Amino acid sequence: MHDRSTPEPPDLFSWEFAADPYPTYAWLREHAPVHRTKLPSGVGAWLVTRYADARQALADPRLSKNPVHHAEPGKTGIPGERSAGLMTHLLNIDPPDHTRLRRLVSKAFTPRRTAEFAPRVQELTDQLIDSFAEKGSADLIHEFAFPLPIYAICDLLGVPAEDQDDFRDWAGMMIRHGGGPRGGVARSVKKMRAYLAELIHRKRENLGDDLISGLIKASDHGDHLTENEATAMCFVLLFAGFETTINLLGNSVYTLLRNPVRLARFRESLAAGETGLLETGVEELLRYDGPVELATWRYATTGLTIGGQDIPVGDPVLVVLAAANRDPARFEEPDTLDLTRRDNQHLGYGHGIHYCLGAPLARLEGQTGLRTLLTRLPDLQLAVAPSELRWRGGLIMRGLRELPVRF
Ligand code: HEM
Repeated sequence: MHDRSTPEPPDLFSWEFAADPYPTYAWLREHAPVHRTKLPSGVGAWLVTRYADARQALADPRLSKNPVHHAEPGKTGIPGERSAGLMTHLLNIDPPDHTRLRRLVSKAFTPRRTAEFAPRVQELTDQLIDSFAEKGSADLIHEFAFPLPIYAICDLLGVPAEDQDDFRDWAGMMIRHGGGPRGGVARSVKKMRAYLAELIHRKRENLGDDLISGLIKASDHGDHLTENEATAMCFVLLFAGFETTINLLGNSVYTLLRNPVRLARFRESLAAGETGLLETGVEELLRYDGPVELATWRYATTGLTIGGQDIPVGDPVLVVLAAANRDPARFEEPDTLDLTRRDNQHLGYGHGIHYCLGAPLARLEGQTGLRTLLTRLPDLQLAVAPSELRWRGGLIMRGLRELPVRF
């Protein structure tokens, strides 16, 4: 573990760091709040770790999301998206194109559509728990946190039930190799793209009530999504929504199991049917050890200064949400899990025009998943020592490879 008083910059992206990056982030916030580093891929980037700088950078129009502004375009982003023709999605574009696409998708992917989906999320949650409840043990990542968001987003989009296991396989491939070999991921991205393009084409002939039909129908002053744009939109909804939600569920259960006193209070509140603590609790779990460790790539379109540090044009900037969310300058006792925390404007869902489009769905899945797990499995406990758990160690996301539990 990195000692906060050491004068040398810590070793970033080691296995030790993956298990607990927070002491390193504390060091960076204090000694090098805007820090130039070399990523495991060999690409150089600036890490922004203080809350105030992070919030400002996330909303700074001089920091573009478009990889054409990177000094070495093609070296960053999601493996395979370029070769699959999936570059023009929300996380790769700036206004005015971003404004146009976000407006169109917002007409179809509304908070109301998510609210109406709540009974289905409950049903999926119960089915998954039914599948292992009698066993007395399970790996909560593989048997619960992984399938729930995949089946949920597939249902919402309108992917027929018989095709959903293909998505499960493609998604599994993307996650297994996140941060590792890019070839397998690129192949899965390509298959997913081909499938989505074909499905969108079929839906156009036979519109229904699902989100894909909603995307096809969405119009803004006569403007519509093209088939290519709709395909990239479905892809980003899947890609941005599944690993994040897996990690929300996995990291949250792990954190709660390591904080038994708070977990007991949480259970009491759930048993009493209170929803207040569930809502503030899930927000706090997101702040405390959220799914997205670093916001997605941004590139300096001009020379600029962040937190007193000059950033040259063309350099990538990575906003470290996990570090900002533990900044003592913004959060009282940031390293304490306080499920009742009220003043909790964490950056776990980002900030500014790219603020998470799926936040209402993520909250629904997080709250439903945690409430149901903790209520139905009252004796839930870790089946291995925390030191035996392995973290994925990818760049953007923070999550466990497996979470063996007993109940
Ligand atoms: C954007 C976090 C779940 C769809 C973002 C961003 C963050 C984030 C941090 C901003 C990235 C940046 O500015 O670089 C999360 C977390 C989730 C979650 C923590 C789960 C707990 C979801 C779900 C969906 C989704 C379930 C969709 C079904 C999106 C989309 C964007 C986005 C489409 C891009 C928005 C834009 O660029 O305008 N998310 N997300 N997310 N998220 Fe989420």
